Amino acid sequence: MNTFGQALRISTFGESHGEAVGCLIDGFPAGVVIDEAFIANEMQRRKGGQTPYATPRREEDGVQILSGVFEGKSTGAPIALLIANANTKSKDYTDIQSLFRPGHADFTYHAKYGIRDYRGGGRSSARESVARVASGAFAKMLLREIGIICESGILHIGSCAGSEIDFAHARGSEIFALDKHQEEAQKRAILEARKNHDSIGGCALVRAYSTNATLQNALLGLGEPLYHKLSGSIGGMMMGLNGVKAVEIGDGIESSKRLGSQNNDCMDSSGFKSNHCGGILGGIATGAEIRVKVYFKPTPSIFLPQATIDTSGAECELTLKGRHDPCIAVRGSVVCESLLALILADMALLRMTNRLESIKAFYEDR
Ligand SMILES: Cc1cc2nc3c(=O)[nH]c(=O)nc-3n(C[C@H](O)[C@H](O)[C@H](O)COP(=O)(O)O)c2cc1C
Repeated sequence: MNTFGQALRISTFGESHGEAVGCLIDGFPAGVVIDEAFIANEMQRRKGGQTPYATPRREEDGVQILSGVFEGKSTGAPIALLIANANTKSKDYTDIQSLFRPGHADFTYHAKYGIRDYRGGGRSSARESVARVASGAFAKMLLREIGIICESGILHIGSCAGSEIDFAHARGSEIFALDKHQEEAQKRAILEARKNHDSIGGCALVRAYSTNATLQNALLGLGEPLYHKLSGSIGGMMMGLNGVKAVEIGDGIESSKRLGSQNNDCMDSSGFKSNHCGGILGGIATGAEIRVKVYFKPTPSIFLPQATIDTSGAECELTLKGRHDPCIAVRGSVVCESLLALILADMALLRMTNRLESIKAFYEDR
């Protein structure tokens, strides 16, 4: 239940205030150059404690590679990664250990398991996503070898929506804003929510594209038909991330308001003339840019008094302490980008056995 993938399998472990969070990556091919500076940069992008737009909790988030890498290259053995939890303040949670935070997973974890590591939200905390970004960095290093790039940015914060999509700008923005003209207003919306002891929702745009612009690029053909459709895997994986409430592929909901003649992506000899489908048809990548919108709810942990119950069912008022993201979409966007990389790396490995000629080419080539 903590494992994702078929050819490339990721299993994560760890709680928010436990010793560490980590993961095991199995099925990662031998011979990939492991760029530790790149991994550190990926972790840095997800990290809190750096701006007023994210949680004040600041972890070093150094990734310890315990196995599977030798002399700078993957060996084909399982890769174990460990990320220590050093900056925990579990005392903030002692007072609320028997109370259920509205909007969080406290109530359902308690109802299901009867026991729960309440410190920092335990396993239900998005601290776990640090392992997704660390393993996602490995997936990105693999995808880079076949010319596939994944990236993300923020489309809207609350009702403050951008219209311009500029990934180059998002890379340098403190909130990964895609529209530089809306960035200041989006930042203000986060600060306003925070000042009011509240939180705010948002939406990330995640994309994958091939650096080879021909119709034969490495994205083309990724995805399995029907039960492991690329769109289904993306939807399942993104919806599996904490706080995600909706996912759209390509034009998504807008498509349901159109005629077929408006929505179809017609073709000419150079490829698709539009990309309403978001780069996926029949569960299989068309080779065009894959576009996914991921919608996050506002952070459930807010600092306003709220009505709740305790574990005995008694009604009470809850006023939280602790450190929380005022807007989870911001750091969440980085996690979504890693998730897309994990899905595509898995699909890229599965893709290699789809045709007899690929199998024969491999054996004849040796
Ligand atoms: C990157 C990221 C950071 C998050 N930070 C917080 C946080 O600081 N406080 C909080 O209450 N929830 C935070 N969440 C959301 C909760 O983990 C999530 O809402 C909770 O586990 C309940 O799950 P659900 O919203 O998917 O139902 C964060 C989520 C993500 C993806």
